[in-house]
Order: sequence, then structure tokens, then C-alpha cells
Amino acid sequence: MALDIVIMAVGKGTRMKSARPKVLHQIAGRGLLQHVLQTASMLAADRIITIIGHGADEVEQAIGAPGLRFVRQMPQLGTGHAVQQALPELHGEGTTLILSGDVPLLEAKTATALVDSCGGQRLALLTIDLPDPTGYGRILRDGHAVQGIVEHKDATPTQRQIREIYTGMMAAPTAHLRRWLTRLTNDNAQGEYYLTDIVAMAVAEGVPVVAAQPASETEVLGVNSPAQLADLERRYQRARAEVLMESGVRFADPARFDVRGELLCGRDVDIDVNCIFEGRVELADGVQVGANCVIRNAVIGTNAAILPFTHIDGEKLGVKIGAGSLVGPFARLRPGANLGEEVHIGNFVEVKNSTLAKGAKANHLAYLGDATVGERVNYGAGSITANYDGANKHRTVIGNDVHVGSNCVLVAPVTLGAGGTIGAGSTIAKDTPAEQLTVVRAKQVSLSGWRRPVKKK
Ligand code: UD1
Ligand code: CA
Repeated sequence: MALDIVIMAVGKGTRMKSARPKVLHQIAGRGLLQHVLQTASMLAADRIITIIGHGADEVEQAIGAPGLRFVRQMPQLGTGHAVQQALPELHGEGTTLILSGDVPLLEAKTATALVDSCGGQRLALLTIDLPDPTGYGRILRDGHAVQGIVEHKDATPTQRQIREIYTGMMAAPTAHLRRWLTRLTNDNAQGEYYLTDIVAMAVAEGVPVVAAQPASETEVLGVNSPAQLADLERRYQRARAEVLMESGVRFADPARFDVRGELLCGRDVDIDVNCIFEGRVELADGVQVGANCVIRNAVIGTNAAILPFTHIDGEKLGVKIGAGSLVGPFARLRPGANLGEEVHIGNFVEVKNSTLAKGAKANHLAYLGDATVGERVNYGAGSITANYDGANKHRTVIGNDVHVGSNCVLVAPVTLGAGGTIGAGSTIAKDTPAEQLTVVRAKQVSLSGWRRPVKKK
């Protein structure tokens, strides 16, 4: 039986006070509409149709993915009018699930339960009891059976006492939905075509109307203001932290933690406060992450420690950190940084597109770009690879056991032979031999008769 999903994403979001269309505002680094589409994609729908209006071009460009259908509602004459626009895209039979593009945290299992309650035969409404139902459509029941939905603005004072509200999400038999929508009128307080009027039509025709509830209120909360956006962000992050804690991850404070993507953790992982994980991050057993780290697209090996204020951004190439490595505080690892086991990267050290073998160390104020660094290399404070000639990038190769003194410039392409030592302050533009001291430095002179200039009177 066909399943079509219609997502309402027309709203302007006036209260967001933003130039950006409401459904493109983000939770956990992804647009509200993307969250809903992700949930929709878990339901094995035949068609997913998004109704857009305000900022339609921008929404379509931001979200466009193969297989997604967009229809436009212009002008906006109500929720029923919105769904009418999607009718040409729907199957002749089966179930149509209606979701809201600005309700991002609906769980797939709740949506599935709604679809199952409909079963292509019944009208299934997602409802919830709210302590303060002001503004919402109220569920009218005759004893037990649902009789209709009355909008807040059309409700009598007695009806306004009802705390069971319509969440804006329903599953309807598609053939019935098609017929009911063509019969809507706008004879109500707002002069709109209300989708919710189809409930009374179903009751009148003897089509069963059922109500399902979500597991938690969070699933049905919409975003209309920056405050609500921030509230949902916190709820989302808290839920992610709970899941990680259940698997054994220890947080100094689960309220000060953000994941904007996928975070996979082994056993005995400790995460201090204010860390942000983006893209796909893997933390192996025993990894410790210090306070205020930002980590994106990285794989971090067993017992590695990432010390406070470290920024790791693997972008597309990724970053790998070997077992037992020590990174930070204040380190910066960029795409293609590939650290072997027990590598030490200290404060104000930047590593990009470079491989460091086991036991290599760069502890202070240094840059390694496009370099291959051997085992146990010691890379001195203030040393850099000059990897870019203004047009092309070149590689620096540093053999095992090389010691690079402080403040050296390695002008790539260049190779430093294994076991060699580079004297402090050297600019190395030619390959250096193994096992020898290479130093490029003007001779130190002292002038005995020299006088410092004095101010003329
Ligand atoms: C709607 C429901 C109400 C429910 C509430 C839940 C109707 C008539 N009322 O009320 O019962 O409790 O949602 O939040 O359906 N939209 C369009 N086109 C339009 C008008 C609205 O696509 O012409 C979209 C909006 O972008 C939004 C959704 O429909 O995503 C709800 O619209 P809104 O005007 O906020 O309806 P409510 O008055 O909140
Ligand atoms: Ca609303």
C-alpha cells in the first residue's frame, strides 16, 4: 500500500525576525526541514512532497535532493489549502502522512505508529495533552470517540478548557483526503481553509477517527521563535548525551555538550565541559577530551588525550590520531593530519596533511604542512615547513630520529636524512645527510670597539 508523506514548510516564521526561511534555521547544525526529511526517509515512503511558500527558492536550493518533490502554495490560504496543492503528487490510494517542517524532533517510531493507526482506512491524528493549550486546535470528543477539531480562535470558552490538542500531524487515507479537501470552505474566524475541518467530515461519513500520542512532548514542539529554537536545541543535545551516558560515556556536565553529527564512543571515554563534535567523530576506548575542544571528522585512538582548547577539523580528508597520543592544549589539527601512536602535539602547533610516525613530537609553536615525519622525530619550537611557493605545495620528508632545532625553516621540497640534527635557526633548502649536524647560520661575531648610538643634544 502506497505511503506518501507531505511536509508543510510554507511558514515565514515572522517571530524568528530573520531573513532566513524558518525551516532552514538549524538544530544540531542541520535545518529543521532536514530533520523532518531524515525522519521521513526512515519510513520507506513512496513519495515525499514538501510544500513551500515563503523563501521557496532558497528552501529548494538548500534542501534539494534526488527524489524529493516540492510544490508551492502561493498565496497561503490555510493548512487545508496547502495540502490541496500536494494532491496532484499523491497516489490514488494508500496513506498520506502529514508532517510539519518546523517540528524537527518527531521520532520515526511515532510517525510509523501514526501511519499504522491509519492503515489506509482510518483518519489518525497525533494529539497530546498540554497544561497550556492556548492557540492550538482542540480535540472534541463525544465521550471517547473523536468528533472534530476546533481551532482556538473559533472555540467557545468551554471548548478552550480542553487540554487535548492537535499537534499538526496526521495520517489519512489518501482517497478520502482527496475528496474531503475539495469540500473545504473558509467560513471561520480566520477566513482560512482549515485542514482540521476534515475530521468532522470523516465522522459524518462514518470513517473511523483515531488519536495517537507521542512518547514525549519534545517530539511535537514547533519552532516559532529563537527562544523555542534554543529550547529544542538543548532538548536534542540532552537526549544525545543521555544515550551516550547509557553506553558508558562520562560527561563532566551533559548540559555543556554539543554533537552536530555522529559521535561514536568506546568504553571509558571522558568528555569535559563545552566540547563540540561535528560531522563524524570516533573516540576509541579510554579517550579523554579536555574542556573547550571542537572536533570534526576525526578518528581518535585508544587512550589518546585531547587537552583543552584543541581544534581538530578533518573536513573531507579527516584527521587520525594514534593510540596514546597527546594533543594540545591549544593545538590545531587540520585535514589530513595523521598521527601515529604516542605522538605529542603541543600548544600552538598546527598540523595539516602530514603523517607523523610513532613517538614523533612537536611540542611548541610550530607548523607541519605536507610533511612526512619519521619515528621519534623531535621538531623544535618555532620551526615550520615552508610548503607553499605561492603556486604549488611541496612535501617535506623528515627521517626517523631527526632532531630539528628551534626556529628552523624547512623549504620544501626537502628531505632530512635519518638521525640528522638541524641546528637552531637554520633555513634548510637542500636535502641534509643522515646522522650529521647541519646548520645554516651566519657566523657569530663580537665587535669590541662598537658603541651604541646616543641621542644628539
Ligand atoms: C495548526 C492547526 C491546529 C494545530 C496547530 C499545531 C489548522 C487549521 N490548525 O494551527 O489545529 O493545533 O497547527 O501547531 O491546521 N501552513 C501552510 N499554509 C498556510 C497556512 C499554514 O503551509 O496557508 C503551514 C504553516 O507553515 C505551518 C502549519 O501549516 O507549518 C501550521 O500553520 P499555522 O498557521 O501555524 O496553523 P496554526 O494556527 O498553528
Ligand atoms: Ca502554528
